[in-house]
Amino acid sequence: MPSDQHEPSAALPLQVSAPPERFFGYYPGTVAVVTAAHAGDRNVMSAGWHAALSAEPPLYGVALGRERYTHAVVLAAQAFALHFLPFEHAHTIAAVGSSSRHDGIDKFARFGLEATSGAVVEVPILTQAYLAYECRVQAVHETGDHDWVVGEVVAVHHRPEAFDERRLQNSQRVPATIYYGRSRYEALGAGPRVDFTPEALLGRP
Ligand SMILES: Cc1cc2nc3c(=O)[nH]c(=O)nc-3n(C[C@H](O)[C@H](O)[C@H](O)COP(=O)(O)O)c2cc1C
Repeated sequence: MPSDQHEPSAALPLQVSAPPERFFGYYPGTVAVVTAAHAGDRNVMSAGWHAALSAEPPLYGVALGRERYTHAVVLAAQAFALHFLPFEHAHTIAAVGSSSRHDGIDKFARFGLEATSGAVVEVPILTQAYLAYECRVQAVHETGDHDWVVGEVVAVHHRPEAFDERRLQNSQRVPATIYYGRSRYEALGAGPRVDFTPEALLGRP
């Protein structure tokens, strides 16, 4: 068996770290790209720590380090946009997450990012995204070394070909980007796929 294929491991116990070592971000997941603009300035950064919080009203949270330049712009503007980029733009996720406007970099110009204007609030919407949430800041919670910034989603921008008729992300046509940690990215969509519908699981007709 090639070394990158998994061995049966169900019988092995989970390894425990208590107190916890730093082991964050090594569960594969999506990375959001956050933009904000205020008083003629604008910026963009990556954020792997983000989550949907509420459907009604629609709320979305993102963890912003207080030292990020973006943090100050988001708080000043009281608005931000959160984007998901296809795999063809994975380098953009890496680039805007590895450079800071604190160093004087205009990341839009440097990394060839194009942006339109928000529909409801003043915020750059990246044209490279297949999905963007336009948000007005609803709350800011101090959480350890980050602030958990909660946005009320006031508009959603999406690329229709990136979704199927059930509004599921169509990773065959527009592969989403999955992040492993340690600068490794992968295109979503190559593996086996299964739908565990509640009807099938619970034996309903
Ligand atoms: C894949 C990835 C995920 C990241 N996730 C977060 C995050 O969730 N929160 C955060 O504050 N910074 C995160 N960062 C770091 C910021 O994107 C990075 O510090 C960036 O340079 C900040 O830019 P700015 O100072 O111009 O705002 C991440 C970086 C990468 C590459």
